[in-house]
Amino acid sequence: TRVLSVASECVPLVKTGGLADVAGALPAALAPHGVEMRTLIPGYRSVMQEVGRDTKVAEWDDLFGGFARVYRGKLGDNVLYVLDAPHLYDRDGRPYSDAHGRDWPDNAERFAALSSAAAMIAADGIEGWMPQVMHCHDWQAGFAPLYLRELGASDRVASLMTIHNIAFQGIARASMISTLGLPRSGFNERGYEYWNNISALKAGLVYADKLSTVSPTYASELMTESFGMGLDGVLRERQADLVGVLNGIDEGIWTPPYKSPDGKAKYRAALREEMGLPDWPGPLCVLISRLTEQKGLDILLQALPALLDRGGQLALLGAGDRDLEEAFLGYAGAHPGVATRIGYDEALARRLVAGGDAILVPSRFEPCGLTQLYGLRYGTLPLVALTGGLADTVINASPAGLAAGAATGVQFHPVTAQALAQALMKLVKLYDDRPTWTRMMKNAMASPVSWEHSAATYAALYSEMVKTA
Ligand code: ADP
Ligand code: GLC
Repeated sequence: TRVLSVASECVPLVKTGGLADVAGALPAALAPHGVEMRTLIPGYRSVMQEVGRDTKVAEWDDLFGGFARVYRGKLGDNVLYVLDAPHLYDRDGRPYSDAHGRDWPDNAERFAALSSAAAMIAADGIEGWMPQVMHCHDWQAGFAPLYLRELGASDRVASLMTIHNIAFQGIARASMISTLGLPRSGFNERGYEYWNNISALKAGLVYADKLSTVSPTYASELMTESFGMGLDGVLRERQADLVGVLNGIDEGIWTPPYKSPDGKAKYRAALREEMGLPDWPGPLCVLISRLTEQKGLDILLQALPALLDRGGQLALLGAGDRDLEEAFLGYAGAHPGVATRIGYDEALARRLVAGGDAILVPSRFEPCGLTQLYGLRYGTLPLVALTGGLADTVINASPAGLAAGAATGVQFHPVTAQALAQALMKLVKLYDDRPTWTRMMKNAMASPVSWEHSAATYAALYSEMVKTA
């Protein structure tokens, strides 16, 4: 099956979160399953510097106020298409915001342009290559199925809309309808209208042939009022077309430098040294995250004494909300058992996963989550909230899980400081019980976290969706 994947970020070129890992990993994971995936991303300044402007394969005179070109690059062994539209993407700053963290005022046009280019490529082909399925990731690609329909090509090319995070919905003012080239007829409750505004994500959810998200549990949660963030009704209506497909991780990048549980000690010692943490008897917990409301870090701050008072430690790497950054820096300054690094650092992230005993993911909601998967692979036991992909990938050290000898981590519910504190106390107890802990590490390291299973699922889904041979 020929699939055009459309994403606003993609490893190794540009990343703000897990979406980039997934978009970057899919083509190689799918190739053995008979899927030829090519990926379209925006040509942000840093991306154009990497890819260059040597191989132009498409151009348009006017794409939302300026000329645009598509250049061919490489994503491993697969084809990458980069949308170069200098008036939209050639600027300093981050993919969605300026250097001060303020959203770009023209984000609606910037990603409508990505979506429009995707639809034109899907409709007309590119370099003679005709996609059969257009796979759209998150709101940034949300208008693509609608544009495809407007081009009269939705009866030939199928579209899949994947929700990586429903908190971001691509809202724009209704006055933008004509600027964005949207059909007025769709501006209603059954179309892309959302509380009198335009929603790019809702457009995708309404007009795509199939919908998916990144775990089965999040798929169910999304249809409830407490997780659907206003789009639960739309999703309930499309229940039959919605599936949850778990993310995997790139085992080439995420391979522990040891083969068995006892190999970890050396890396734990090195990590303590690097982070300036004393050699205490309790578990060394690590956490790697965007510091935002979603991730439940305010709750962790309240629950931390339950860990620290019992000889446990925390080493945290993250960046995001100012108040959370300051709170964790403050905690580290006041407590010898806590170390905080603010910033984005892939190499340190790997050292944390290798050296930690446990990895914490106390998220309020988590569509899939990747760091608990890294933890499993490294025998760094995940302590996670019982939600979304965290519920689907970790086997709780419940009485049943332990009795079956199957447990790989600790889950807590509800997401409150009290429940998390309880879970941290339980973690310390388990850690003191060496045979059980070692057994859990072995189980974790044997957990299926690769793309293998999900790649087969996507491949089957695409081939079911194909409208023309
Ligand atoms: P989300 O996409 O919601 O941020 P995920 O767990 O799916 O959550 O993906 C986050 C990805 O970003 C992981 O690969 C994680 O290791 C990485 N990451 C997050 N924060 C940092 C950081 N400060 N330094 C290095 N890597 C980070
Ligand atoms: C989102 C989610 C995260 C998921 C990632 C990749 O950013 O917050 O849970 O793993 O997308 O699908």
